[in-house]
Amino acid sequence: MSIINSIAKCKKRIGHGASRNVFYSRRYNVVIKRMRDPKCAFDNDQMQSECELFDSMTEAEKEIFPITGYVELKNGEKVVMMKKCEVVDDLNEYRRAFFAADGYRTQVKFWDEAARIAGLDTKTNKCLADFIKKNGITDVHHQNVGVLNNHFVLIDAGCR
Ligand SMILES: Nc1ncnc2c1ncn2[C@@H]1O[C@H](COP(=O)(O)OP(=O)(O)OP(=O)(O)O)[C@@H](O)[C@H]1O
Ligand SMILES: [Mg+2]
Repeated sequence: MSIINSIAKCKKRIGHGASRNVFYSRRYNVVIKRMRDPKCAFDNDQMQSECELFDSMTEAEKEIFPITGYVELKNGEKVVMMKKCEVVDDLNEYRRAFFAADGYRTQVKFWDEAARIAGLDTKTNKCLADFIKKNGITDVHHQNVGVLNNHFVLIDAGCR
């Protein structure tokens, strides 16, 4: 089955935000993100900007913003694929660590403190903080953060 067919078959979402529905493909072992309203130009711009980020990212940056690729459907809708991460939600320790950490989320100090509280690795945090700063990512709320390979990652580059 092609990825386009897998996208078409996505039914049961594993999560959602204000603008996107999030699915998981077992066949491809990736998360698939689609706009909740495919006619929303603002949301497609947001998808487009993540696709552009992906095209410009270094290998190290792909460790902290783990998009694996994207496709454009016939109607122009952009669909983003990402590694499946643990989420920072109400039920886990990561959320507590995220809110206990002091400082701005553009600063490595914040991520190091959060990682230490959560028992995660800190070595990718400089790359993460630099990436947020360099790209003017302003929407770094806890539901836009995940954990992959024992370190914090961004799962939504949001508003820029
Ligand atoms: N890579 C991932 N692995 C696991 N779950 C994910 C992943 N990406 C997103 N999710 C889940 O889906 C939710 C919504 O995803 P995302 O933040 O990309 O949507 P959004 O509509 O852009 O969000 P926002 O409301 O912040 O604009 C996340 O908060 C998370 O719970
Ligand atoms: Mg989000």
